[in-house]
Amino acid sequence: QRSYDLVIAANRLPVDRVVAPNGSSQWHRSPGGLVTAMDSVMRGRDGAWVGWAGEPGEAPAPFAEAGMWLHPVPLDAQELETYYEGFSNDTLWPIYHDVIVPAHFHREWWQAYERVNERFAEAVCEVAAPGAKVWIHDYQLQLVPALVRRRRPDVRIGWFNHIPFPPVELFAQLPWRSQIIEGLLGADYLGFQRVADAQNFLRAARRLDGRATRGDTVVTRDPDGAERVVRASAVPISIDYADLESLARSEAVQERARQIRTSLGEPEVVMLGVDRLDYTKGIRHRLKAYEELLAEGTLRPPEVTFVQVATPSRERVAAYKRLRTEVETTVGRINGTYGTLGSPAVHYLHHSYPREEMAALFQAADVMLVTPLRDGMNLVAKEYVTCRHDTGGALVLSEFTGAWHELHQSFVCNPHDIEGLKQTILRALRTDDKERRRLMRALRRRVADNDVQRWADRFLTNLDTAPHKPGRKG
Ligand code: G6P
Repeated sequence: QRSYDLVIAANRLPVDRVVAPNGSSQWHRSPGGLVTAMDSVMRGRDGAWVGWAGEPGEAPAPFAEAGMWLHPVPLDAQELETYYEGFSNDTLWPIYHDVIVPAHFHREWWQAYERVNERFAEAVCEVAAPGAKVWIHDYQLQLVPALVRRRRPDVRIGWFNHIPFPPVELFAQLPWRSQIIEGLLGADYLGFQRVADAQNFLRAARRLDGRATRGDTVVTRDPDGAERVVRASAVPISIDYADLESLARSEAVQERARQIRTSLGEPEVVMLGVDRLDYTKGIRHRLKAYEELLAEGTLRPPEVTFVQVATPSRERVAAYKRLRTEVETTVGRINGTYGTLGSPAVHYLHHSYPREEMAALFQAADVMLVTPLRDGMNLVAKEYVTCRHDTGGALVLSEFTGAWHELHQSFVCNPHDIEGLKQTILRALRTDDKERRRLMRALRRRVADNDVQRWADRFLTNLDTAPHKPGRKG
């Protein structure tokens, strides 16, 4: 087997294996912002990507795809429940997103997390060339940095967190907080979405684990007793601007955008939400604001319509099931009350769509509602402005997203403040065309300047220049 100078480890591979009832299997693109960003960084780089293929059971054999080597890591059905749905998405996810829903703590979940992190670390060591760069991603793999370092002191290790890193008071609730800090400190460099996330980590290391910090570094000791420093800083993630822009400019996508408006009945205003169906995304708050605007008669279907794409996500986790029921009940109530024959007030789509269709939807939308209660970055906000080469449209953006720290020319909102959210939506609708285009141009420039390649270069440069004490392969 070949070894690689650049190795990515993420919970998911960029493609999921979907097995049909007749046993045949197909590869689909995996959901979420991580894959959106990393897939385009890795294309053609001749690196390896270590991850889960999205189905429990035996892992498929490693294979080459789009100029990278995909190395599947198996998860069995029990681990899917304990490591993935349990510890990753019912313990860490709520803690790291301001405990919007309560976090659950179970020792068996933690043990599975440790075990699966070991397995990822072994797989990384198998494919990493001597002196390779290893880039580990996200909250599912926080123990992997130290586990790789123990086996392979020759490699350079970076970790990037796609989601927020919580304030120390919330992180403190985790019974395994010290193990997680220790796991992360196995890296040479730790990247975060916002300055506040990096600071939260540095504070947690200092206050909860008694580590010394100097500026943006934490002082740690290797198993051989040697002192080492680990840097933690912000490198906000982005998207492949040029690639999406040119897709959005294609005749096929523009034609599809026109068709979408026609099939919506040529309303004056199309509002759009696009999210994984996740309680962090503020979908309920958005629907509440919209329902009140309808109830007051400020917005009237069919002149106005709202399209909500809610991509299925983590469907066996109780909080996600509850959210789905609430959202679907609310959509039903809104349509029952304000819809008319042939013109529902909300078009609710519980599906995932190919990029072409998303680009067309973005172009068809006058107002894009990105209203998470907490979000590491939110790449949908960046995708929307990228698709608006016509400089039309308006972006309503929550101040609790990483994206807000870059996209200041959006219509900012606090999604908890329903009255304020309603006013912001109306302001986005009523701002004159010239001013809206000026804002959209500024937003587009911002995303074009910090695109995903720039992000990856910044991360890899920080990793290259991080203080590193090369060791022997052990
Ligand atoms: C977010 C996370 C990713 C995750 C994605 C989809 O973007 O940062 O790590 O892959 O959501 O969630 P899922 O649980 O389906 O992988």
